[in-house]
Amino acid sequence: MICLAAKAIRASVFRKSVSVRVSGKSSSRTVTTRATSYTLNTGAKIPALGFGTFQDPDSQEETVSRALQKGMRLIDTARVYNVETQVGKGVKKSGIPREDIFLGTKLWCNDYHPDDVERALDDSLRDLETPYVDLLLMHYPCTFKRGPDRFPRDVDGRMIRGDTTYVDTWKAMEKLTKTGKVKAIGVSNFCKSEIETLIRESSTIPAVHQMEVHPYLQQKEFNEWLRSKGIHVVQFSPLGNMNDFYRQTGWSKEIAHMMRVIDQPILKEIGKKYGKSPVQVVLAWGINSGRSVIPKSVVDWQIDENLEADFELESEDMAQIATLDAKARFNDPSLDYEWRLYSDLEGIDGTVKGRTH
Ligand SMILES: NC(=O)c1ccc[n+]([C@@H]2O[C@H](COP(=O)([O-])OP(=O)(O)OC[C@H]3O[C@@H](n4cnc5c(N)ncnc54)[C@H](OP(=O)(O)O)[C@@H]3O)[C@@H](O)[C@H]2O)c1
Repeated sequence: MICLAAKAIRASVFRKSVSVRVSGKSSSRTVTTRATSYTLNTGAKIPALGFGTFQDPDSQEETVSRALQKGMRLIDTARVYNVETQVGKGVKKSGIPREDIFLGTKLWCNDYHPDDVERALDDSLRDLETPYVDLLLMHYPCTFKRGPDRFPRDVDGRMIRGDTTYVDTWKAMEKLTKTGKVKAIGVSNFCKSEIETLIRESSTIPAVHQMEVHPYLQQKEFNEWLRSKGIHVVQFSPLGNMNDFYRQTGWSKEIAHMMRVIDQPILKEIGKKYGKSPVQVVLAWGINSGRSVIPKSVVDWQIDENLEADFELESEDMAQIATLDAKARFNDPSLDYEWRLYSDLEGIDGTVKGRTH
């Protein structure tokens, strides 16, 4: 069973025609840009390289359209990002056929009551101007009070919890896969025991876990466990503390101010071997580890750079990057959301109170 599951997410690699010859002091090498994809436990393919859409709503229509035209085929969005309308318009504007795009969105915590789940999905589909999404994720395991307020708080400003559980929500999501409106379902920001509960109490193993992974938060054991269950990992914030959000948000930890991942000299050194930037090395590390990465950018040259980030890294370079693990988790709204997130995972020291909404 485990063996089959692990097999199901093996990467298929298709070569693109871009090869760059890099000359060093005593040697030269050819670096080929790949277009890796993985097979989910549903049988569907998911690209290794994708595009995040959190923030900059005014730019998203244009950038989603351009990113697709440039070759991105995986778009990640969420109800709570307030960009689904722009993403939908961007997809249309790109002219790329819908069936060639892997489009995923996320259900937000105020819509977790089982009676709200399908209506919430319909809202997303309407705004995304699509009859289906390739992936629907539960954004966090915590349930907020149902109703239109996405961040329902009591008079003291504390988040009000809902009275259903993530298992109830998951069972409602399972039903959606039979409607044709959702091709696969998965989770985000869950810990190991929460995923074990889902597996035990339902008949669907999540196709994807979208979680924070980068060289400063590698979570080797958890990643191996997910792989053994056939759950494909999509890395959010793949560039670590690159996003200023982590320095500015109320629940940012002190560690968000540490040296940016991409400024680590090791990455620069490795990059020289391949004629690649530290950003490209970081993204390639995720892909060479069997995961998808969804960097967000609204800047053309950065999108171009990210698109050239799928190349083979030698094992000695993967080993070097492994030494950067600092168990530094930047995305941790546990105290604001009134839910101890990531309870059995690495990087939960130093969680601070604070709010974004
Ligand atoms: N499931 C969740 O709870 C969750 C949480 C966080 C994020 N996400 C998803 O993951 C996506 C990515 O995460 P993220 O935005 O936090 O972090 P990220 O993609 O690791 O970093 C984004 C930052 O890196 C910059 N950047 C991107 N490519 C670059 C390049 N080639 N060179 C230099 N800078 C570059 C961007 O600049 P510009 O903005 O100036 O272009 C932005 O400031 C999000 O957009 C969202 O879709 C999901």
